[in-house]
Amino acid sequence: VIDIRKLYAGTDMFTFDPGFTSTASCESKITFIDGDKGQLYYRGYPIEQLAESSDYLETCYLLLNGELPNAQEKHEFETIILRHNMVHEQLTWFFRGFRRDAHPMAMMVGVVGALAAFYQDSLDISDPDHRRIAEYRMIAKIPTIAAMCYRYSNGLPFNYPKNHLSYTANFMHMMFATPCEPYEPNPVLVRALDRIFILHADHEQNASTSTVRLAGSSGANPFACIAAGIACLWGPAHGGANEAVLKMLDEIGDVAHVEEFMQGVKEKRYRLMGFGHRVYKNMDPRASIMKQTCDEVLAELGLQDSPKFKLAMALEKIALEDPYFVERKLYPNVDFYSGIVLSALGIPVSMFTVIFALARTVGWISHWHEMIADPHQKIGRPRQLYTGEQRRDYVPVNQR
Ligand code: ACO
Repeated sequence: VIDIRKLYAGTDMFTFDPGFTSTASCESKITFIDGDKGQLYYRGYPIEQLAESSDYLETCYLLLNGELPNAQEKHEFETIILRHNMVHEQLTWFFRGFRRDAHPMAMMVGVVGALAAFYQDSLDISDPDHRRIAEYRMIAKIPTIAAMCYRYSNGLPFNYPKNHLSYTANFMHMMFATPCEPYEPNPVLVRALDRIFILHADHEQNASTSTVRLAGSSGANPFACIAAGIACLWGPAHGGANEAVLKMLDEIGDVAHVEEFMQGVKEKRYRLMGFGHRVYKNMDPRASIMKQTCDEVLAELGLQDSPKFKLAMALEKIALEDPYFVERKLYPNVDFYSGIVLSALGIPVSMFTVIFALARTVGWISHWHEMIADPHQKIGRPRQLYTGEQRRDYVPVNQR
């Protein structure tokens, strides 16, 4: 590893690395990915063990603090997060300013950014207490806001959180309960969603996390930084991928059209959504866990024979055998299966990226926390390779 700071200190030289394929922008102790081996660790713990034995809030504690909590720390953390899960009542009015058919992600960007206007007692980032309370608020309120986005875009009344429920069951209650019928948590489905949250909680310097760090490097408040991360996540090459997977499956329509579609992919007329990854050049470890979760959920709901699932399996089979995909190391990523699971849980496609944002909030917060606490932290300021015009003189408009 070359330390760029020493190499180029005091010179005009810089690296040109479009898309940052080989440039580290920071040091971090949070998440480690071995893309060639297909391994992912949060704070040193393999993702497989966390997905099997931990729960999302415990994983949040681990990402934020660096260690797993003991029983008392776990209880205290859960209690603090529960205590912060309501949003300011005026925020419900804020929602009413949006068009009724607005995309939930469009509302998320706006509402999360607006939290800075509602929680002004946690904006002084030089104060560790302010920082900590802002972090708790973000983790606690994001499911409430996400569910509000869904309810608003469907013309449904908002559901307030119920504190006897777990973090994930509470989110499902806020999504699905009706005034006539309470939401009865199904442990298999709650566990599946909790696992989706764990798998999406962090992934080192991906585009949205880098966005949060870059925004935060200027000293911007944490709510504004997370709003920036949400905006970046919305893109189809990043968090929009599982939404794009379901759209792709709808467009293909039937197993009979799979061969023709794959030919189009090879001719570069379309991309196979949910396949490929910038870092994993082997199976995405999250994809294996998600595939198992997908089997469990479909079995629980009696949906193993659903046409969409069969279509997805037909695509996966071809992609894993066809030399075009094998040579390019294009394996299914986590989003290939998470879209199918979310759909089976009754979550509409327009909410998929919102769910990702909900889960990733703790990763963004943990990176923001790590960066702000670093005494050597500098404002992020990439260089550029200028390829525009040479110096030229201004021409008055009537002479152009
Ligand atoms: N379908 C078909 N071909 C692909 C795909 C794909 N999904 N991904 C890459 N390729 C091909 C490219 O056409 C290129 O082929 P070439 O060598 O003949 O030109 C080669 O594989 C390398 O592709 P790049 O675009 O250079 O790979 P990069 O690392 O930049 O892209 C990305 C990674 C953006 C994730 C890409 O694989 C993609 O678009 N995948 C689909 C979207 C998706 O699933 N995103 C989710 C990522 S996971 C996440 O955000 C949680």
